[in-house]
Amino acid sequence: MCGIFGIVTEEEQALGPILIEAGRWLSYRGYDTVGCATFHKDQTIDLRKDVGKIDEVASRLNFAEMTGSRGVLQLRWATFGVPSQVNAQPHLDSDGDMVGAHNGNVVNNLELRQQFIQEGMTVRSMNDGETCVHAVERYVHRGYDTLQAIRCAYQDLEGDYAFVIGRAGERELYAIKKGSGLVAGVGEGFTCISSDLPSILPLTRQIIRINDGEIVTLHPNRIELHRVSDGERIERLPQTITESMESAQKGGYPHFMLKEIHEQPTVAGEMLRLIEKSDDVKQLVERMASARHLYLIGCGTSYHACLLGSIYMAQIAGIPAIPVLAPQFIAQYAPAVGPEDVGLFVSQSGETKDVLNAIHVAQQRGMRVLGMVNVIGSTLTQVSEHYLPLACGYEISVPATKTFTNQAIAFLFLALRLAHRPTQQLSEQIPALMKLTLEQISPQIQQIEPLLIAQNDLYCLGYGLTYPIALEGALKLKEITYAHCEGMLSTEFKHGPLSAVYDDFPVIFVCAPQDIPLIVSGVNEVVCRGGRAIVIGPDDHRLRINAHHLITLPQMEAEISALLSVLPLQLLSYHLSLARGFDPDFPRNLSKTLTVD
Ligand code: G6P
Repeated sequence: MCGIFGIVTEEEQALGPILIEAGRWLSYRGYDTVGCATFHKDQTIDLRKDVGKIDEVASRLNFAEMTGSRGVLQLRWATFGVPSQVNAQPHLDSDGDMVGAHNGNVVNNLELRQQFIQEGMTVRSMNDGETCVHAVERYVHRGYDTLQAIRCAYQDLEGDYAFVIGRAGERELYAIKKGSGLVAGVGEGFTCISSDLPSILPLTRQIIRINDGEIVTLHPNRIELHRVSDGERIERLPQTITESMESAQKGGYPHFMLKEIHEQPTVAGEMLRLIEKSDDVKQLVERMASARHLYLIGCGTSYHACLLGSIYMAQIAGIPAIPVLAPQFIAQYAPAVGPEDVGLFVSQSGETKDVLNAIHVAQQRGMRVLGMVNVIGSTLTQVSEHYLPLACGYEISVPATKTFTNQAIAFLFLALRLAHRPTQQLSEQIPALMKLTLEQISPQIQQIEPLLIAQNDLYCLGYGLTYPIALEGALKLKEITYAHCEGMLSTEFKHGPLSAVYDDFPVIFVCAPQDIPLIVSGVNEVVCRGGRAIVIGPDDHRLRINAHHLITLPQMEAEISALLSVLPLQLLSYHLSLARGFDPDFPRNLSKTLTVD
């Protein structure tokens, strides 16, 4: 997830140290290249950028010595174009007298690049940030002033993004917001703009929040806002921010986990729009389709996504895919695989040692290695022939939430692609349903919570599509409430664990619409032995009359309903963790990324 920062000052001054500091604040978002540009009075632009981490690149390219009265910094997390010096941002226009950088994705990047090349512009990189700059340049060439040119460019740039741009010979920077975060700050003798608040707070607490469809003009002493739609001026006074730096990083939420749970609709939409147009993902699908045997390999939460993925592959595409825990792949399948077989390795971090070990063995056998990964630049991205980027941004809390849902959604997308069915509708459908689900379940979870606070043993059961969700829900509950919660196939419960049921023993069932009769049987087996049955599923009278409690999900197709049924389990785990006095972000004994055997 990229980050941008821009500053405009009254006087020409040392801007390098301010830009470096802003870069450090933005670095939690995850990135692989860093760049800075400053504008001098003599109309020259000083642009320095490269692959690497902020402190390393800053010292190699001596950002600290950069001066000017306007400065732009960008941290890039590669999506369009490999991480390289040329693809790093900021980017110049054809003549080198405009410079700009963006955060987000311009999904019609490839089409626009071709148009710009045909129009005679100099396009230097594959990156969509450069496309934003040329989109403005196009209208500057046609005689528009900078503000009007940005308004026109906005109509051409499809996707969710925010970008900042400046022109030599002027005193201002301009920024625009469409889908990605953007906040402006006003201080003594300067104004600034950033992807998020924490990088601004060390400079000023006078903040203006920017809405989608607004253009910001940063003068040295004031901020002007215009609406893109009609060009009209908008009046908005700065507000004083009183919250602490830590709470600002959490975006107003008390914990990273809750913030990340609520980011799910946004990152789902971002990933879907990105992979819809990605050539690399197209090639990944072709490679999967050509496999003799297809393995889906991961650990922990990522393994649960693999399990759901294999059900989607079978049900939607009629393709058998074998889900397996990475260490077990080595023992159970590696001796029998060869160059005709394909492994799709799934990992948030791309660094889990168990996963890398399995890749090593797979490569020794000549097996093709594909990736599905969140951290770009990680080992998994380097060793994969093709990879699907999960595009979730930085996930800070140890329990994985948004990376799981994006893995599950990515599998649904891949299964549809393998079945030659359309996928464009997902980016409209899923984020909206996720938002609705989060709104609908929040009050229901609060009612269930008191029943479970004191329980140290519980079960979470699912069937078919919801079996992996039950495993994932049980993992979340174990991880952060420290209660023993076992996830299993609902039909297996009667083959043993049923004997453990006593009065009020809690059993959570996760139910997809087509499995209601079967789940009702399971519920009754528990209820008639004194257990307490809690069901997560559709609003159906059969569930309502048989279970003690029903957490209802909005009506939707079974495939999507199954993956969204993880949302109540995430929220329930979070609230129970707090109620039991624990820190859901950093549970004891666990680590976000396990780089050991
Ligand atoms: C650790 C984390 C889990 C995660 C697992 C796999 O155990 O605590 O939350 O699911 O590693 O991580 P990966 O980065 O490979 O998805």
